[in-house]
Amino acid sequence: MSLYQKHVFVCENLRDDADVRGSCAQKGSIEFRSLLKKEIELRGLKGKIRINKAGCLGTCKQGISMVIYPQGIWYGRLSESDIPEIVEKTLVQNEVISRLLMSFMKNRSF
Ligand code: FES
Repeated sequence: MSLYQKHVFVCENLRDDADVRGSCAQKGSIEFRSLLKKEIELRGLKGKIRINKAGCLGTCKQGISMVIYPQGIWYGRLSESDIPEIVEKTLVQNEVISRLLMSFMKNRSF
């Protein structure tokens, strides 16, 4: 049994500007995670859904990267405008948002 209903990890890895791999923090993941946490708090979900920062998740080209457990849903190319939909559909209603799935997740069933 898990301590949380959902446990979310958002990559906040920051690389040097000269690094060709890029990084999620360069794409705004630190602000993204902060806003996601605020949305969780505003909706009274704190304590049920945990939002943690992560180091590189290994999916840099598809960043901003996040993974949601226990389902193991990997979302990528995220922007702040995706936050309300992620919270309502995936974190509350357990629906997968197909357009946000990382490429390796596209044919999976949950
Ligand atoms: S830098 Fe975010 S997944 Fe690698």
